[in-house]
Amino acid sequence: MQQELRIAASVLAADFSRLGEEVRAIAEAGADWLHVDVMDGHFVPNLTIGAGVVAALRPHSTRPFDVHLMVTPPDPYIEPFAEAGADCITVHAEAGPHLHRTLQRIKGMGKRAGVALNPATPARAVEQVLDDVDLVLVMSVNPGFGGQRFIPSQLGKIEALRALIDASGRTVDLSVDGGIDEHTAGLASGAGADVLVAGSASFAGGRSEYPGNIARLRAAGEAGRTASLGARAKPRAIGAAAS
Ligand code: DX5
Ligand code: ZN
Repeated sequence: MQQELRIAASVLAADFSRLGEEVRAIAEAGADWLHVDVMDGHFVPNLTIGAGVVAALRPHSTRPFDVHLMVTPPDPYIEPFAEAGADCITVHAEAGPHLHRTLQRIKGMGKRAGVALNPATPARAVEQVLDDVDLVLVMSVNPGFGGQRFIPSQLGKIEALRALIDASGRTVDLSVDGGIDEHTAGLASGAGADVLVAGSASFAGGRSEYPGNIARLRAAGEAGRTASLGARAKPRAIGAAAS
């Protein structure tokens, strides 16, 4: 079942020269989670931050740290990020040869485990590990950079994953990452996502804008969900009246 909508602010779009203040400001503005993009310059063509930065940011907020490892191989980095204070560690299905083992390693550190899927990777890539994950992250852009455009074909994948998760009966967060703004937030939540990762849209316009940015994303996400629930309910209502 789709859970309460959460907004995960990606600090990739924050002012890196004042990261502690930025984390505090976006959390106070209402972001539910802090999403931390870790890029290795190898799995993705960009380099960002390491476990030391997560450890330095940890005292600045009690909100969950949602660490997205765009790193191959991921295994050597699980322990450092877990010790640095990550709450959830997400690895890419495409990043390592032994996804199941990697997920066990994350769980073994007492952390929530996530699997991310690149745009070209089908939903079924997580099917055999669904019992071992707490979060599935759909990349709605090719990973590596903030500020890219949402890829609409990923909506079908979100719907397919929503169905897979619901059929499993487990509580698994369904997260969407990349190009989330006031328009795409509703599309993603309408398709079944319950965590919206937003970098540019969260941190746009400077600190005074953060509360409005987060509120608008949340409102758009809620509206998309309500609209899709209404659309799904209608045919059933007609069928019920006819029978
Ligand atoms: C992209 C990252 C995203 C990124 C999203 O590789 O995984 O989390 O920060 O940024 P926006 O919201 O600007 O697309
Ligand atoms: Zn990310």
